[in-house]
Amino acid sequence: MSRVYDALRKLEEQTKESAREAVSPPPKTVVVPPKNLEQLLSAPVLEARVAPDDRIVVYTDRRGPGAERFRLIRIALRNSQAGKAQKVLLITSPLPRDGKSTVALNLATSLAEEGKVKVLLLEADLHRPSLLQHLGLQKMCGLTEVVEDMADPASAIRRIEPLRFYLLAAGRSSEHPTEMLQTERFHSLLRDFKSCFDWVLIDCPPAFPLADVVVLRSHADGVLLVARAGTTPRETVQETVQLFKPGQVVGMILNAAEGVNHLYSKYYYRKEMVAQSERLSTEVDG
Ligand SMILES: Nc1ncnc2c1ncn2[C@@H]1O[C@H](COP(=O)(O)OP(=O)(O)O)[C@@H](O)[C@H]1O
Ligand SMILES: [Mg+2]
Repeated sequence: MSRVYDALRKLEEQTKESAREAVSPPPKTVVVPPKNLEQLLSAPVLEARVAPDDRIVVYTDRRGPGAERFRLIRIALRNSQAGKAQKVLLITSPLPRDGKSTVALNLATSLAEEGKVKVLLLEADLHRPSLLQHLGLQKMCGLTEVVEDMADPASAIRRIEPLRFYLLAAGRSSEHPTEMLQTERFHSLLRDFKSCFDWVLIDCPPAFPLADVVVLRSHADGVLLVARAGTTPRETVQETVQLFKPGQVVGMILNAAEGVNHLYSKYYYRKEMVAQSERLSTEVDG
């Protein structure tokens, strides 16, 4: 009798327990908001001031030979990307003023031209940032602030119209730019960008004498080298190539190729360029 009584009591207790569970609010859980990467794509729009004589020839001279050459690079890059997870492309050169930023702007514009491909141009030259100036835009927060957690990426990235690419500018100058590029925060940012954009073009500082490119190279699926015709010494180009793993350099662009004095043989010039560049090479008119 007492066993039946005990069993009934137990059952009664269990019923009360489940009734309590049914009405009590669910236990509080700490909700970690998922990183809303989509937010990056709804970045505010900024209108760039692209003057007809600017060097963004892909936009200012769509039918011109310069734009056509960038179209060829775009095709070659797309082919090289097909079936692979290649999307982070470093754009660098041996020296300052070789034309890295000019090439980066044209390439970003060319890749984004049809509006289907999402392209992020990331300004990682924290020593001599120039993209905002090239685009006729005011200074604004950028990579430095984002890495230092003073701004979130969704508020620092801008969609640049009418060029159609997304931009994360360098931001305020940093006292330790090379160290900044080595932080876990920078690594995780790049991971987020990779999952959000089709292409991440990194406008780098020159390879010499800085260490930044050596730091950045581990993130690169590919490297595009820029040399300036008649200016960039060929030895420095060869030294730059050696900084990367075999196969990492996907191509080389000879900037300002027209009007090169071929007598200056210690500098890169047209024929040499075509002969030496393995897979993807092109020349951009001055
Ligand atoms: N093909 C070219 N013809 C004439 N001027 C150019 C050409 N490419 C770049 N420039 C100019 O040279 C300067 C340096 O170019 P930039 O792209 O900022 O170089 P980097 O990023 O390598 O320092 C800029 O004033 C730019 O407008
Ligand atoms: Mg530059």
